[in-house]
Amino acid sequence: RYHRIALLPGDGIGQDVIAEGVQTLNLLASLAGDFRLETQSFDWSCEYYLQHGRMMPPEALNTLREFDAIYFGAVGFPTVPDHVSLHGMLLPIRQEFDLYVNLRPIRLLPGLEGPLRGRTTADVNFVCVRENTEGEYARSGGRIQVGTPQEVATQTAIFTRQGTERIIRYAFELARREGRHKVTSATKSNALQYSMVFWDEVYSAVAAEYPDITADKWHVDALAARFVTHPQTLDVVVSSNLFGDILTDLGGALQGSLGLPPSGNIHPVAETRRGPSLFEPVHGSAPDIAGKGIANPIGGIWSGQIMLEYLGEREAATQLMRAIEAVTAAREVLTPDLGGRATTVEVGKAIRTALRKL
Ligand code: NAI
Ligand code: MG
Repeated sequence: RYHRIALLPGDGIGQDVIAEGVQTLNLLASLAGDFRLETQSFDWSCEYYLQHGRMMPPEALNTLREFDAIYFGAVGFPTVPDHVSLHGMLLPIRQEFDLYVNLRPIRLLPGLEGPLRGRTTADVNFVCVRENTEGEYARSGGRIQVGTPQEVATQTAIFTRQGTERIIRYAFELARREGRHKVTSATKSNALQYSMVFWDEVYSAVAAEYPDITADKWHVDALAARFVTHPQTLDVVVSSNLFGDILTDLGGALQGSLGLPPSGNIHPVAETRRGPSLFEPVHGSAPDIAGKGIANPIGGIWSGQIMLEYLGEREAATQLMRAIEAVTAAREVLTPDLGGRATTVEVGKAIRTALRKL
């Protein structure tokens, strides 16, 4: 088997972690012997923007369409406004290819404690399913009377029935597929009397089709607290775009470092697919540690693991997860964000050494 992967390392530590990820995936392919990755790298980024006035060339989306998956680092640079980098690259890719599922597993890896004392993998092990194409990030709104005392800015959240139903359905299907028992919805229907009341209605209707799965819901503020106080009660969490964005950074913190959580931006239905899905660590370009060689590569490598699953390489994906867990469990080679002294490259190498020993 043969998979074409577009590499978009982007800026800052995105470049460091994708370099480790690619080496690790290539090693897996050569150890497995029955699949191959053909990678092509693109330098689209904030540096590209500073030279060309745009984050990526006009034909970029068409170029990407030819690939089986996109392996993305991060974009963001201190001298380029963040809404420029985000709206110039990541959001257009998500929207053009209709990558409506943002899948973010939250799992405390063996050997790591995180901020919740005494918790283990058994307590912190759930999956966040975040809507990824509409909701609060629908790019609708504007500003009037700019700069005057009368100025008004609006940002309209857009929830369509189709968009809401398909993300909630995905969460229930995922629960069934992975043998999980509960789906928890993040809502705020007390304050948001149109969008979230609608969300709750769709949620109840879809939940009724899955009597084997417990359907649970919390207002997002209370749910944020429960992430910290009752993580063991969470199994699958489904949320809108903004709520999921915030909850999953909190989830990353529960894992012990923002350098750990991975993500997939996925269009899961083959018949309606418009382009490749995209896999990236949850973290950004981390300008505060960029160029120092100390970024934790695990979030990036773990994202590569989710990409392998999506590409149908389940056995290789399982192997990679075991290798990552072997490294964290041993606690010998960890980057400074986890209290260690290792470099990005050393952690990448340790994971590859673990792979060879499996
Ligand atoms: P960030 O995730 O880049 O950094 C937040 C904090 O976590 C920093 O202290 C950083 O050093 C630390 N951190 C993040 N990843 C780490 C890793 N792998 N190893 C060790 N420590 C790590 O988020 P921030 O600071 O809000 O944003 C920085 C830039 O990244 C901005 O330009 C932002 O727009 C961009 N960004 C891009 C994203 C993307 O491309 N998907 C996502 C989030 C932010
Ligand atoms: Mg975020």
